[in-house]
Amino acid sequence: MSLILGLESSCDDSAAALVASDRRILAQAVAGQTEAHRPYGGVVPEIAARAHVEILPGLIRRVLDEGGIAIGEVDAVAATAGPGLIGGVMVALLAGKGLALAAGKPLIAVNHLEGHALSPRLVDPELGFPYLLLLVSGGHCQLLEVLGVGDYRRLATTIDDAAGEAFDKAAKLLGLPYPGGPAIEELAKHGDASAVPLPRPLVGSDEPHFSFAGLKSAVQRAVATGDFRPEDIAASFQQAVVDCLVDRTALALRQSDAPALVVAGGVAANGAIRMALGELAAREDRRFSVPPPWLCTDNAAMIAWAGAERLQAGLVDALDVPARARWPLDEAAEKVRGAGVKA
Ligand code: KG4
Ligand code: ZN
Repeated sequence: MSLILGLESSCDDSAAALVASDRRILAQAVAGQTEAHRPYGGVVPEIAARAHVEILPGLIRRVLDEGGIAIGEVDAVAATAGPGLIGGVMVALLAGKGLALAAGKPLIAVNHLEGHALSPRLVDPELGFPYLLLLVSGGHCQLLEVLGVGDYRRLATTIDDAAGEAFDKAAKLLGLPYPGGPAIEELAKHGDASAVPLPRPLVGSDEPHFSFAGLKSAVQRAVATGDFRPEDIAASFQQAVVDCLVDRTALALRQSDAPALVVAGGVAANGAIRMALGELAAREDRRFSVPPPWLCTDNAAMIAWAGAERLQAGLVDALDVPARARWPLDEAAEKVRGAGVKA
């Protein structure tokens, strides 16, 4: 049994957690910065980085106190080293290096996306490798085969916006507060999902990827007509995203023998998305696993858990490991149009 301190600061959540390799979460704390960024309708990198510097040390103190653990008693320190907003990434990574150095413990530089990717295994001990992962967050929308710790094969990615980005942009168009995902989900409960005709980009296409930019533009036009109720636009938008995710995931399932379908990342907190993908898994005769909503959005328990999995596999890092703004899980995957590549 080993005990891992996990640290996270790659976007707008500061977080610390103490997790044991037997899946016990001894303590965890997440502090969002929603209010600081709200006036700007999105995350301001400079504000986020400064806030992490102020908030993260107090969270580390808190989880150690709550867990009744001295820093010398942890077996490793795991910190997100990317991808993300680089100023923020540097805060948890450097804090982690300092603690690892002071306590004489190994440092584990965790890919934030691997944190999301392995998070279901923290709460679902029966979930073995391989599994097909739909990773949907503010910055990513990918389908990956998770073959093992550190071993990923990307089947699809977005050619423009990420799924969470689409929620955030649609919310902004509807005058809803940031972050947009939870706000749209709430409003959609009172709307009619068939009221507003919206496109389903790439649905039915043989191309494996996702696209959401056209959907956002259609929401913009629907808002501009003044003909639709906001709750109907929210519900219709959410349904369009669900349809895109289900169609693209169904295509990937046809190309993968993985016995399980897993959904993770902030957008996986969405009830409609969880239900639709669960139904898809049932139709396709695959096991379905999705972490509880608190483990879908950014947190440090998933970083500590990825640290535990990596420590178990003997994967530790040197103290000069870099912070990375860009860090794909599948480094061999081709760039697609939209990702800096012309179609
Ligand atoms: O994983 P995450 O917390 O941070 C990143 O690594 O990006 O994901 C944040 C994204 C945001 O775009 C947010 O709007 C979206 O997840 N999100 C949701 C919900 N909760 C968070 N999207 C749809 N429905 C939700 N309930
Ligand atoms: Zn995330």
